[in-house]
Amino acid sequence: MQRNIILIGFMGTGKSTIGRKLSRTFGYPLIDADQMIVEQEGCSIPEIFADRGEKAFRDLETSALRSLSRHSGHIIATGGGIIGRPENRRLLRHLGYVVWLVASPAEILARTARNTNRPLLNNDHPEETIRNLLEIRTPLYRATAHLAIETDQLSFDEVATGIIESAQYYFSSHE
Ligand code: S3P
Repeated sequence: MQRNIILIGFMGTGKSTIGRKLSRTFGYPLIDADQMIVEQEGCSIPEIFADRGEKAFRDLETSALRSLSRHSGHIIATGGGIIGRPENRRLLRHLGYVVWLVASPAEILARTARNTNRPLLNNDHPEETIRNLLEIRTPLYRATAHLAIETDQLSFDEVATGIIESAQYYFSSHE
C-alpha cells in the first residue's frame, strides 16, 4: 500500500477544500483527480458529460487513478462518484489511507446549490437526486474508507486536524 491520504465523499462534502488545507498545513502536494482530467482533456467536466456521456468520464476517472498508483506522500482529492467501480475501490485502497467526508443531504444541497459545475445535479430536482445517489453510494463509501468523518458540525480546520492525526497513527501502525 502507498502512503497517500485519499479523500472520498459525496459532491459538496468539502474534499477539495479540505485537500487544499491539508496540503498547505502539512506540505504534502495535492492532486485533484477531477482537475487532472480537466487538464488532460482540455475541457470542463460538464463538457465531457455533455459531449461524450458519463461512461466516458468514468473511464477517464479510472485511468487517472491507475496513473497515480506509484505516487506516495500526496493528498489525493477525488470526485464523488469515483467509488462506483470495483476496480476504483481497489485502486483507492492501494493508494493509502482513505478518508470519507460525510455530510447530511441538507448540507450537501446547501453547499452545491450555487454551483452549476456538477452535471449530475443540474436538473429540476437536485434534492431527490442527492438522496437517490446517497442511497446507492453510502455503502460503497463505507466499504472503501478507513475513516469516516461527519463534517456538518466541524470547521475545516477541525476536519483537517482529525484526518492528519488518524492518518499518522494508521501509517505508524502499518509500517
Ligand atoms: C461527480 C462528482 C464531481 C465530478 C463529476 C461527477 C459524482 O466531483 O467528479 O461531476 O458523480 O458525484 P465532486 O465530488 O468534487 O463535486
